[in-house]
Amino acid sequence: MVAKFLKNVSMVSFIRIVLLLLVVLPSNLPYSTAQTWIRAGYWFSGTEFPIEDVNSALFTHLLCAFGDLNSTTYELQISASDQKYFSAFTSTVKQKNPSVVTLLSIGGGTANYSIYSTMVSQFSSRKSFIDSSIRVARVYGFEGLDFSWRSASTAADATNMGILFDEWRAAVESESRNDSSSQPTLTMAAPYSQYILEATLPVESIKRNFDWVHVLAFDYNTPTSNPEHTGSSAALYNPANNQNTDFGVNSWMNGGLPANKIVLGLPFYGYAWKLRDPNDKLIGSPANGSAVTPDGDMTYTEIRNYILQYNAVSSYNSTYVMKYCSVGTTWIGFDDIEVVKQKFHMQNRGTYVAM
Ligand SMILES: *[C@@H]1O[C@H](CO)[C@@H](O)[C@H](O)[C@H]1NC(C)=O
Ligand SMILES: *[C@@H]1O[C@H](CO)[C@@H](O)[C@H](O)[C@H]1NC(C)=O
Ligand SMILES: *[C@@H]1O[C@H](CO)[C@@H](O)[C@H](O)[C@H]1NC(C)=O
Ligand SMILES: *[C@@H]1O[C@H](CO)[C@@H](O)[C@H](O)[C@H]1NC(C)=O
Ligand SMILES: *[C@@H]1O[C@H](CO)[C@@H](O)[C@H](O)[C@H]1NC(C)=O
Repeated sequence: MVAKFLKNVSMVSFIRIVLLLLVVLPSNLPYSTAQTWIRAGYWFSGTEFPIEDVNSALFTHLLCAFGDLNSTTYELQISASDQKYFSAFTSTVKQKNPSVVTLLSIGGGTANYSIYSTMVSQFSSRKSFIDSSIRVARVYGFEGLDFSWRSASTAADATNMGILFDEWRAAVESESRNDSSSQPTLTMAAPYSQYILEATLPVESIKRNFDWVHVLAFDYNTPTSNPEHTGSSAALYNPANNQNTDFGVNSWMNGGLPANKIVLGLPFYGYAWKLRDPNDKLIGSPANGSAVTPDGDMTYTEIRNYILQYNAVSSYNSTYVMKYCSVGTTWIGFDDIEVVKQKFHMQNRGTYVAM
């Protein structure tokens, strides 16, 4: 299960921007009460999407991904090839929106998790990581840090992560007291459901130490993980199993993470499968792997252009809350504006506030 999830999250590197939204609001307050929205997006190096093309006016927070750990010193480092992008990130995105807050995201789907496991296990390596993370953030001009090590496989990993998070928060508090600068924002990324990892993440420590958590509510089914049938990669509901956003977000809330710490991930991309029979084109129809691209991933813009080019008709399925369309043997499942609105409306139905 962990391996499967990690395989899926590594596909995150193909995404250009993932939108994350949060409403910080107790669920019993009227909707009109002042709300603080987090509208965060991840920008990944290694995509061809230029930083200057990010419309930062749409965001409150932008995350630059990914920094990684040095395997011998456990310090946070930015690869030589990323340095020119990461050092320009904050000043570039602030041109269109001076108040956008930038964060450096650490880890990601392709990081070597055994190094993180070792890092969290000892005081000295945790301290190297923490001190270097604050230093790197300052040097590169980031105003926050996002911890994206998502694979606690043992109970010891989870316990040690909890200790790291306490020490990290204490260090950023102490550092900002010392030079009276503002405290960096600390966030983390987590799998869509708390049950997907072999070990339960330390929810109490997460709650205490992070400003919020980015819940990765996508990649449930992809042409790689589920080549035999078309599927829902980011469905709000799924009548057949627990791979859906409603289940996942509720699992975090049932595990003790309050709604005002949950930021729901929305994919700005979908997946194309190859249908076995062009006339059998529903969610769950027989398929044979990916279409259009090697992994089947397509950005929202690419999907929209494809639909225009082939004059395809897309269908909305309210059971899953997703869109899909097909052209010949190509079947594409995706989220569009209508789907995002439905996910957003969840909060009004009182199931959960965050989105
Ligand atoms: C890790 O840090 C050491 C000491 O600073 C350095 O010599 C080494 O090149 C770094 N490793 C990588 C992979 O950058
Ligand atoms: C991950 O890091 C460990 C410890 O440095 C190393 O032994 C292992 O070979 C690395 N794995 C990969 C896939 O690079
Ligand atoms: C803040 O100052 C205290 C006392 O001078 C020092 O012990 C501590 O290491 C400093 N913390 C940071 C993060 O610089
Ligand atoms: C599935 O696709 C592969 C390669 O794309 C092809 O070799 C194989 O014959 C296909 N299987 C069926 C049953 O169509
Ligand atoms: C959504 O798709 C599934 C699978 O094809 C189907 O069973 C269900 O009836 C559809 N929901 C609606 C509201 O059409």
